[in-house]
Amino acid sequence: MSNNGEATAINGRFKGKDIISLNQFSQKDIELLFKHTKNTKRITQKHTPSKLLSGYVVGLIFYEPSSRTFGSFSAAVKRMGGQTIEYLNPKENSSVAKGESLSDTMQTIQSYTNAIVIRHPQAGAAQKAADSADIPIINAGDGGNAHPTQGLLDLFTIYDTFSTLSKLTVVASGDVLHSRTIHSLIEGLSLFKGNTIYLLSPKELRLSKDYYDSFTKRGIKLIEIFDEKDIPKNAHVWYWNRIQKERFSNLEEAKKYEGKFVVTTNLLKTYGNKEMILMDPLPRVGEIEEAVDQDPRSVYLKTQMRNGMYIRMALLGLILGKIK
Ligand code: NCD
Repeated sequence: MSNNGEATAINGRFKGKDIISLNQFSQKDIELLFKHTKNTKRITQKHTPSKLLSGYVVGLIFYEPSSRTFGSFSAAVKRMGGQTIEYLNPKENSSVAKGESLSDTMQTIQSYTNAIVIRHPQAGAAQKAADSADIPIINAGDGGNAHPTQGLLDLFTIYDTFSTLSKLTVVASGDVLHSRTIHSLIEGLSLFKGNTIYLLSPKELRLSKDYYDSFTKRGIKLIEIFDEKDIPKNAHVWYWNRIQKERFSNLEEAKKYEGKFVVTTNLLKTYGNKEMILMDPLPRVGEIEEAVDQDPRSVYLKTQMRNGMYIRMALLGLILGKIK
């Protein structure tokens, strides 16, 4: 949607809106989305075909690799009876290879579709895309900045477990500097009251001052820790994410941090508790030992991943005005 360089607040009305960041959401907007997500989950699990998006086409353009975000958006559209045009690796397979600008590419895709989902390596690219398009643009990850739909599915997973998104203690670990999923999780949890997030990372990969200031201004309590020994034993959620090696100019440097904070059965035994859940947006690249997958508290390969499709179905239905 063309606007003035800033995404519009949802304010109870999803129809026609871009989804660029979780800053656009209020607590009520999240509640409305979750109400519909419970529904999309139920109808999908019952294999009741939905025809809500019949006659609609959604463009998916991914300038960066993706398995889950791409797959779940594509499945979400199809499970609601809509269709997709998919531009994967557009730098090779589309006119982007000939030097076409982002703005021209967006105007092209919008002539065929009703909404566009975009993943791009540059922070701010989703907003730029939204500025050049007249149809809704959904940010599926813009560089090291944000990944709002991942944030929404993560919030839904937490809500589904604890029936609340307030007064929670979360440990988020990994490449906190570059992790767009951790940024969006913090942004999402800061919409609710009384949450504390421990950020566990190597010192060099701590949250940037700009993000730190803008998040804490919204009332969330952030506690930076640099040693596993400081993990609080009362956390509701452990959220682990890999080192984002594609954001480093030097791959060797990224490698230095891999294997630094790994969830092992032993770490869980020492610092975990019975009620907590262990999340990871995936892909997992060594930050969680495979033996941990069998633990019932591990939700990353199970509900967390599946919730991605349900939340994206609900979001698309709302944005395209097919549900209210
Ligand atoms: C994440 C991403 O792309 O930021 N993946 C995803 O969408 N589930 C996390 C990551 O790549 O580490």
